[in-house]
Amino acid sequence: MNEIASDAMPGPDERRSAAIAASRVEIPPYAKPAREFALVRHLLRSPTARQDLPLEGEIPGAGQDQLPVIMLDGEIHRERRTSLARFFSPKAIKDHHRAVMEATTAALMAQLRCTGRGQIDLMSMQLACDVAAAIVGLTESDKAAMARRIRLTFETSRADSLALIGPLIKKAKTIYKSLSFFWLDVKPAIRARRASPGADIISHLIELGYSERSILVDCLTYATAGMLTTREFTVMVAWYMLDRDELRAQFLAADEAAQIEILEEILRLEPVAALLYRRAEEDMTGPDGEAIKAGERFALDIRAANTDTAATGACPYAFDAERARREKVTGAWLSFGDGAHRCPGAQVALAETRVFIDALLRVPGIRLETPPNVGWCDPIGGYELHGAIVVCDRG
Ligand code: HEM
Repeated sequence: MNEIASDAMPGPDERRSAAIAASRVEIPPYAKPAREFALVRHLLRSPTARQDLPLEGEIPGAGQDQLPVIMLDGEIHRERRTSLARFFSPKAIKDHHRAVMEATTAALMAQLRCTGRGQIDLMSMQLACDVAAAIVGLTESDKAAMARRIRLTFETSRADSLALIGPLIKKAKTIYKSLSFFWLDVKPAIRARRASPGADIISHLIELGYSERSILVDCLTYATAGMLTTREFTVMVAWYMLDRDELRAQFLAADEAAQIEILEEILRLEPVAALLYRRAEEDMTGPDGEAIKAGERFALDIRAANTDTAATGACPYAFDAERARREKVTGAWLSFGDGAHRCPGAQVALAETRVFIDALLRVPGIRLETPPNVGWCDPIGGYELHGAIVVCDRG
C-alpha cells in the first residue's frame, strides 16, 4: 500500500499498525484505490456512491428488508438509521450505556488489582462485548461466557477477506447451524424480547419482522463492527499510553473532551478498518470536477486518506492532539467513515475506551510488562493486538 506522495518531509512516523497494514491490505483487482482525503470523503458523502462490500454469494436471511444496516442504501437505509439513532444518542450513552461501561470497567480493574496482572485484549473484549450486548439486547446469557464464545467464533472463522463484516456474513449460513453463539446467546435473547420487548436492537428487529436467521446476521454484524473494532482500538490506546509517559500524563491531566481528542488522534493514525468500499451508482463528479463513470468501484484507503498532507498539514504520521481542531476536521478523520454510513457507534466506542483507559492508568503501579503482538484480524480487515500483559501493585 502506498502512502500519499508529498513534497513536504513526512516527519517522524509514530504509527504502530502501518507495517502490518502495508503487508496485509490488498486493493481488490476490480476496484480503483481512492487515497486522497478529499476524494475518499467525497465518495463517502455522495448519495450516488453506494455501499459495495465485497461479498460473495447470497446473503443468508430473507430479502432486502432484512439485511443488516451496513448493507442497505438509499431510502430504506435512511429510515433504518433514523430508527436506530435512539440507541446511540448522547442521551442513551448518558442514561444507559455509561453505567454498563463503568460497571464492567470497575469489575475488570478490581480483578486486575486482585491478581496483579491482566491481558489487555481480554479485558477490552469483555468491555466491548458488555456494552454492545446491552445495545443489541443480548442480555440473557452469562457475560464472560458470551465474550469468550464471540472471541472464539471469530478466531476460528477466519476467511481470506478484504472487508469489514462482509466475509462473516458470507459464512453466517454455515455458522447458523452450529454456532453456540446463536443457540446460547441470540436465541434466548429473541425469546425474552418477544415476551417482553425492551429498548434494544433485537426488540426493534422483531418489530420489523426479521427472521431469527436475519437477527443472527445482524448480531454478527454488531460483533464485528462494534465489539472487535473497539477491542482492538482500546488495546492500541493502552499501548500508546503505557509506553509514552508524556502522553499518559497529558491524558490524565485532561478533561473528558480533551481526552476524547487524544483518542481520536490515535484513531486517525491507527484506523481499525483499513478499507471501505463504494460503487458509483450514476455518473458523478469527483471533488475536483473529475468524471466518475457509473459502475466504477472504489476501495477507499482510510489509512492513506487520514495521513494525506493536503488535509493533515505537516508531519502526518506524528501524534498531534491539536491537529483536528487546527485543520477544522472531525476528530477521528475518516476512521469512523463519513456520510450516510458513518459509524453510529462512534461516540459509544470513544466513551467506553475513555472510561477504561482512564481507570487503567490510575491503577497503582500499572505498567506494561509485555507489549502486544501485532497481527491481522480478517473479520474486520484491520490490525489485531494480542497478548499485551499489564502488571500492577496488588491490593
Ligand atoms: C473503534 C471502534 C469502531 C470503529 C473504528 C468503527 C468503524 C466503523 C466504520 C469505518 C464504519 C463505516 C462502514 C462503511 O462506511 O462502509 C462503521 C459502521 C458501523 N458501525 Fe462502527 N466502528 C466502531 C465501533 C462501533 C460500535 C461500538 C458499534 C455498535 C455497538 C458500531 C456499529 C456500527 C454499525 C451498525 C455500522 C453500520 C452503519 C451503516 O452502514 O449505516 N461500531 N463503523
